[in-house]
Amino acid sequence: MVRPGADADVAVAAGIDALVSDQPWQPDSLSRYFNHESHCHALVLEQSGDVWGFLIYVLVLDEASVDNVAVLPEAQGMGYGRLLLDTALQQMQALGAVRCMLEVRESNVAARGLYEKRGFQLDGRRRDYYKTAEGREDALLMSRRW
Ligand SMILES: CC(C)(COP(=O)(O)OP(=O)(O)OC[C@H]1O[C@@H](n2cnc3c(N)ncnc32)[C@H](O)[C@@H]1OP(=O)(O)O)[C@@H](O)C(=O)NCCC(=O)NCCS
Repeated sequence: MVRPGADADVAVAAGIDALVSDQPWQPDSLSRYFNHESHCHALVLEQSGDVWGFLIYVLVLDEASVDNVAVLPEAQGMGYGRLLLDTALQQMQALGAVRCMLEVRESNVAARGLYEKRGFQLDGRRRDYYKTAEGREDALLMSRRW
């Protein structure tokens, strides 16, 4: 099930991100989303009482941005990322969003596939935005409208 994130989920969410991200979010940075401070929102994917994934987003007036989504490595490829994104998109729309934006590493085939299937289109790129083991790579800027 997907439920709103809470302060008690911050440590486990940071742990998941550390497993799946090259530049993981620190608990301090995640905290404002899980405490739903100033336009910040967090959703948590819970199975059998354990947190398997999360999604964080910001909604200001009618524009939203997905700031991160992560699923435990052993639970990837089973539809959970899509469930988190669909739940977030439904919530954003219910709260009045007309546009949702995000940034993704150019090399992140799984995330790009997830977003494209939900109607996100390429708006542009930030050249050399992300660090990689070999150097740097572009961020792709994507968005979708309702
Ligand atoms: C990106 C991520 C959240 C996707 O979650 P997931 O639960 O693995 O994805 P799902 O099983 O819901 O798949 C949804 C769609 O994503 C795409 N996708 C998922 N894994 C993929 C892969 N390995 N290769 C290509 N496309 C993939 C497909 O389009 C898929 O739809 P389909 O099953 O109909 O083909 C997950 O892989 C993850 O946590 N990655 C590491 C963190 C990350 O990169 N976050 C995004 C930051 S922008």
